[in-house]
Amino acid sequence: KYWNVEHEQIDEHNEHIKEAAAAIQHQEAVAFPTETVYGLGADATTTEAVHKIFQAKGRPGDNPLIVHIANLQQVETVAEEIPDQARKLMDAFWPGSLTVILKSNGASAENVTAGLSTVGVRMPDHPVARALLTACKLPVAAPSANQSGRPSPTTAQHVLDDLTGKVYGVVDGGPTGVGVESTVVDCTAETAVILRPGGVTKEDLEAVIGPVKTASDFKNERKQPKAPGMKYTHYAPNAPFWLMEGNVNTIQNEINRLHKEGKRVGVMASEEHAEQYQHAVVKSCGSKEDLKEVAHKIYHCLRSFNNEDVDIILGETFPKEGVGAAVMNRLEKAATKVMK
Ligand code: TXA
Ligand code: MG
Repeated sequence: KYWNVEHEQIDEHNEHIKEAAAAIQHQEAVAFPTETVYGLGADATTTEAVHKIFQAKGRPGDNPLIVHIANLQQVETVAEEIPDQARKLMDAFWPGSLTVILKSNGASAENVTAGLSTVGVRMPDHPVARALLTACKLPVAAPSANQSGRPSPTTAQHVLDDLTGKVYGVVDGGPTGVGVESTVVDCTAETAVILRPGGVTKEDLEAVIGPVKTASDFKNERKQPKAPGMKYTHYAPNAPFWLMEGNVNTIQNEINRLHKEGKRVGVMASEEHAEQYQHAVVKSCGSKEDLKEVAHKIYHCLRSFNNEDVDIILGETFPKEGVGAAVMNRLEKAATKVMK
């Protein structure tokens, strides 16, 4: 099923939304837009429904899913306790691109939490997601709606490219806004830890609860806190992707070297530099001065090289400030090689 609601009046009484919600209530997997990326949703309380998500995506079973909710009361249906700092973060950033990790109360299906004692919860801020979650009256488990390993989907077309024939339906609400996934914050420890940088920045979080930790704070420790999903290959376009820390000259030299070998080269460039490259298919993914724009475009840009005849993609780096931290996290994971 394909429901296009992009230009419709959206609330939980919309006919298409009601149909999609009924499918989820009947244990089907349905893709829908959120403000970050498209998600693939299913009833979080039912193992068989959740299993359909893992099957469709080809997702490893040890990678837990985020539970999406429509209102604050629903947190208590999946979490055992809500620490003070979590409460503050929820008040400040929900609905929005923040996922909090809480102690699970066991109500979620075991494949949602991948056997962990914790559960990730998020209240998204997108009219279609909110209407759908309200109409379902269920907590909805939803990972990004891409084939596992590929860039996350920021349009319904990306979802169709990856999952046609593998899911019950797709709700098309137009392109997403933020463009990178939610920030995942573990609130079960004394000091909150960012497990995955995302739409809400470290600075945003610290303004509300004071100092938070990131993975790099645990560099010298044996056991590093990580979202289980972060260890897998992620976000990769079809051709090898080399992330290059150099300037325009060093990247152009690399293009020239590859070009001489007869290779067709793609470059994922900043708007500032896009017009300076030669002998390459160049795509601009936004200005170094506007990292929100880069976040918004990044996955579309990575995916768009799959429609080009290139053997290798070279990528520029971006400042790790604000949402740039999330952009660089994704580019580093997408890269087959990082060149200094
Ligand atoms: O913006 C988003 O978060 C999107 C939209 C659809 O809401 N969803 C999303 O889900 O990105 P997914 O499955 O692609 O990424 C979920 C991340 C994974 O890295 C996973 O390991 C982590 O969250 N995660 C989920 N539950 C967890 C838990 N209990 N403890 C630690 N990490 C968890
Ligand atoms: Mg994902």
